[in-house]
Amino acid sequence: MSKKAGYAVVGLGVGVNHVDAAAKSERADLIAVCDLIQEKLDKISEKYPGTLTYLDFDEMLKNPDIDIVSICVPSGMHADLAVRALEAGKNVLVEKPIDITVEAAMRIEEARVRTGLKAGVIHQNRNNADMAPILDAVRSGRIGDVYYGDFEVKWFRTQQYYDDGGWRGTWEMDGGGSLMNQAVHTVDLMQWIMGDVKAVTSKMGIYNHKISTEDFTASLVEFKSGAVATFVSTTCAYPGLNTGIKVYGTKGSIEANGDTLEMWKIEGAPEGEEEEMLKQYSGNSAAAALDPTLCTGHASMVEDMIAAVLDDRDPQILPLEAIKSVRIVNAVYESARTGKPVIFD
Ligand SMILES: NC(=O)c1ccc[n+]([C@@H]2O[C@H](COP(=O)([O-])OP(=O)(O)OC[C@H]3O[C@@H](n4cnc5c(N)ncnc54)[C@H](O)[C@@H]3O)[C@@H](O)[C@H]2O)c1
Repeated sequence: MSKKAGYAVVGLGVGVNHVDAAAKSERADLIAVCDLIQEKLDKISEKYPGTLTYLDFDEMLKNPDIDIVSICVPSGMHADLAVRALEAGKNVLVEKPIDITVEAAMRIEEARVRTGLKAGVIHQNRNNADMAPILDAVRSGRIGDVYYGDFEVKWFRTQQYYDDGGWRGTWEMDGGGSLMNQAVHTVDLMQWIMGDVKAVTSKMGIYNHKISTEDFTASLVEFKSGAVATFVSTTCAYPGLNTGIKVYGTKGSIEANGDTLEMWKIEGAPEGEEEEMLKQYSGNSAAAALDPTLCTGHASMVEDMIAAVLDDRDPQILPLEAIKSVRIVNAVYESARTGKPVIFD
């Protein structure tokens, strides 16, 4: 495709990040936005004059200038809208989690294959600067055999945050609480770093919110490699603490908080390497622990999606990759409900 990609966004909560990224992109034109709330549409019209606004998603899909639609509606609606967009001939970039069940998410994968169009999924934390060196240290064997991982998403969300959305903290539309919504990013990173999961054993509870799902989970995760991880997620950790990504191997230990490296100890490493690594990888992604509006990193994934469509290649994260974290999250919930481990195939 030699022209610019025509971009549209449905759902103007975090979807505004997608709008900003598309508007800034040199390879896309922001064509349209869709939401059920007129005021949200008006704000985009003010900021980006000329952008078409729609209250009806299917009406927007009729616009032939649109090549890509970002799906940023409540999680339990992702597959429904993504499949409708694909069937209408549009490529889709779907917010995390891809949907709240494996079955729903598979409908996106099936529509992608059926239509031959592109479907990408947002897990922007994979692009945190510290992820490349961590993955390299694990995959190259520099930290030896990985035997343990410790992952924690100790965030804070007010009751107002849940009340505002209406859908948040409901099994029907959020598919869970702190784990499915906030920590699914880190579940994705965990399985990316540690490999395929063999079993999970979990507990969950509601400690500080009036919601029907959970605001705390704790899990023991076993991997096919033989390694083990502990995983804690919560939205009760006042005032919003950390996103721990800690990996331990027989020859080294690495600890990060979001995109900030906090420990880098590798047997036989050149002198000064740890100091240099800690200086170089010192980011700010932990801000989202306190404030949901401070989620960043969407621009790189929107740009990747635009490039995937224009250059006819796969987007960075395909549905089958994004489904892995949804499968793990649902296994945690099942184990917590039944009190038994959930064993993976
Ligand atoms: N990647 C990230 O860091 C990140 C951050 C926040 C949210 N999210 C994800 O983005 C999605 C939306 O979350 P949010 O916090 O922005 O929610 P939100 O409630 O703030 O926004 C959702 C918007 O979708 C609109 N909407 C609902 N149904 C619609 C329909 N049928 N047609 C058009 N518009 C419709 C609502 O009016 C609302 O404005 C969720 O899946 C969430 O998990 C991702």
